[in-house]
Amino acid sequence: MSHDPIIVALDFDSATEADRLVNALGGSAGFYKVGMELYAAAGMDYVRRLIDRGNRVFLDMKYYDIGETVKRAVAVAARSGAAFLTVHGVGQVMRAAIEGRGDSAMKLLAITVLTSFDRNDLREQGYDCEVADLVRQRVDLAAQCGIDGIVASPLEARAIREQAGPKLTIVTPGVRSRGAATGDQKRVATPAEAIADGANYLVIGRQVSRAADPRAAMEAIRAELAEHAASRA
Ligand code: C5P
Repeated sequence: MSHDPIIVALDFDSATEADRLVNALGGSAGFYKVGMELYAAAGMDYVRRLIDRGNRVFLDMKYYDIGETVKRAVAVAARSGAAFLTVHGVGQVMRAAIEGRGDSAMKLLAITVLTSFDRNDLREQGYDCEVADLVRQRVDLAAQCGIDGIVASPLEARAIREQAGPKLTIVTPGVRSRGAATGDQKRVATPAEAIADGANYLVIGRQVSRAADPRAAMEAIRAELAEHAASRA
């Protein structure tokens, strides 16, 4: 099967709601992101259930704790069979995550700087630099630590790809088809733009999950990507 770049975010507060979307999508999606909200509601039992039903799971836990705790939590997450797990892009956390992952196939993705942070948020945390500078520094550190990929805004994807080379996996949320509601997302790109800028995977949330017909919304995105791929062939 060819590479499927679409990851659907299950941003729900119960397994019932999440299942409603998974069932509506049927076979049109096979990779789901479970974040803090659904994890708090339904936990690893739900993650394992998704995997048992043949899906891949991106565990968006954004771990950030002392090394020993991160190492142990990552080891448990890896045993669940999840495909991707996020940790914050600071050295101690990333090194502990790599130790915890051991020889499992789970990919570790680093969060460089949360996209909701601006220069003032960084100053509050004691960093006197531009967001872009800290992103660049953390991409380098992630690569040095042996992290597999980066979660990045689609507007950062091109610079990160140029900086880090072809091997790094780039996963971009904040993606919207032209004409789709942007909600609270201020800086968005279309799925085709994000792929053209070097993203390997796109996290799609509300454009699919809040659609009257999620399967049709998914198929429209796939058609958009196929059209783009054909125009570049
Ligand atoms: O906006 P949308 O509903 O498509 O968001 C999908 C997912 O991407 C959500 O789980 C959200 O937490 C995540 N996201 C993110 N960084 C952003 C925007 C969205 O991680 N800048």
